[in-house]
Amino acid sequence: MSAGETSGAQPDRGAVLRRDGPRALEWAAEYLERVGDLPVLAQVRPGEIRARLPARAPEEGEPFSAVLRDLDQVLLPGVTHWQHPRYFAYFSISASEEAILAELLAATLNSVAILWRTAPASTELEGVVLDWAAELLGLPGGWHGHIEDSASTSTLTAIIAAREATGRDLVVCSEQAHSSVQKAARMLGMRWRGVPCDDAFRMRADALGELDEAAAVVATVGTTGTTSVDPVPQVADACARAGTWLHVDAAYAGAAMVCPEHRWAFAGVERADSVVVNAHKWMLAPMDCSLLWSRRPDALRRAFSLIPEYLRTPDAEDALSLSEYGPALGRRFRALKLWAVLRCRGRRGLQQHIRHGIELASLFESWVAAQDGWELCAPRPFSVVCFRLDGDDDRNRALLERANASGELFISPAVLGGRYVLRLAIGQLSTTEDDVRRAWDVLRREAASI
Ligand SMILES: Cc1ncc(COP(=O)(O)O)c(C=O)c1O
Repeated sequence: MSAGETSGAQPDRGAVLRRDGPRALEWAAEYLERVGDLPVLAQVRPGEIRARLPARAPEEGEPFSAVLRDLDQVLLPGVTHWQHPRYFAYFSISASEEAILAELLAATLNSVAILWRTAPASTELEGVVLDWAAELLGLPGGWHGHIEDSASTSTLTAIIAAREATGRDLVVCSEQAHSSVQKAARMLGMRWRGVPCDDAFRMRADALGELDEAAAVVATVGTTGTTSVDPVPQVADACARAGTWLHVDAAYAGAAMVCPEHRWAFAGVERADSVVVNAHKWMLAPMDCSLLWSRRPDALRRAFSLIPEYLRTPDAEDALSLSEYGPALGRRFRALKLWAVLRCRGRRGLQQHIRHGIELASLFESWVAAQDGWELCAPRPFSVVCFRLDGDDDRNRALLERANASGELFISPAVLGGRYVLRLAIGQLSTTEDDVRRAWDVLRREAASI
């Protein structure tokens, strides 16, 4: 018999959770304890997992234990472990325990915040946690904040508001900006212009060019390749002169602003029209939790408000509905997990997490700097080290492939100044100095055998 052990009638929902919940939680706890022993990068070929799964859903329901069994036996070999202490690729991220539990509770409530009245607590908590996060990161008070699924959607949202506010159709960002900016422009049928960078991979404000036709300039605080920081104050000056919307993409590095010693990177951000920080990158919230603030919520509302009669509520309620400020109507209770993180870690816990990652990155950087035959390829403002082995791109590509195939670590590449470089990004709660040392040992071992 199926999950509810009855046919036709409603199962006792509490009993199902009490029976299967502890097993699922035990699975989660045990996974987090043993993930460091698994190969970081999934050791499967494309199509392999699909081939192991039945073509059709079962006719009759199965017990939840069958789902857990197949999670272990069928799916787990196809998981690249983002919670692994030696996950160093792209941006290394962590879902904290309290946030994992909050996700369970959010799914239990299954609130859908299409309107304030369909989810008052979710809507209002979202406002509160965005205010709290703004204060923690040193953003100005009084900005309107809401949560989108991803930085890609947040930036798309900001650019739509910029187009609404300016009536223009050009988007400008540096050549090191994330591809989501150009993608947003393309999806919106807007023009896009790339600005060259200096030798530290920062946007050259003197090369911004005419902005009279620009709807938005996107400045990046923590670029994807090297985590470089664009000169936001100068970009803000240029935007102010041209009446252009300034959007700051701080998807990764924004979280580091919880530490006063990193606030230099947010200089000028108080003059932005909108800012995105991904809480699911370096702020311990599980995917997906992208924080978007704007000091011009009216422009967002003008761009996104479209209320059919069946959704109309009194004006005072409509103005609070967060679906009025972005693309999605149905919005899930994402604020709960961020609330759990902010309450359970506090400012101090978040600071510790950021500082720990940066310290480890600095250690790795010092080992590379001291080793003959290796080269650092970019300044390191935060927890990402860009480096390479002496020799050509193919040699470095081979090194990356071999190191990743070992299963002992996972790193990713970047292309800087036309050269292929390796990136080691630190951001896991569980990464220790031993893990970083092991990564360095693996890289040197594999390099010696190329
Ligand atoms: C600077 C920057 N902006 C935007 C993004 C896109 O983030 P998301 O995956 O949340 O769309 C990334 C992804 O790594 C990023 O590094």
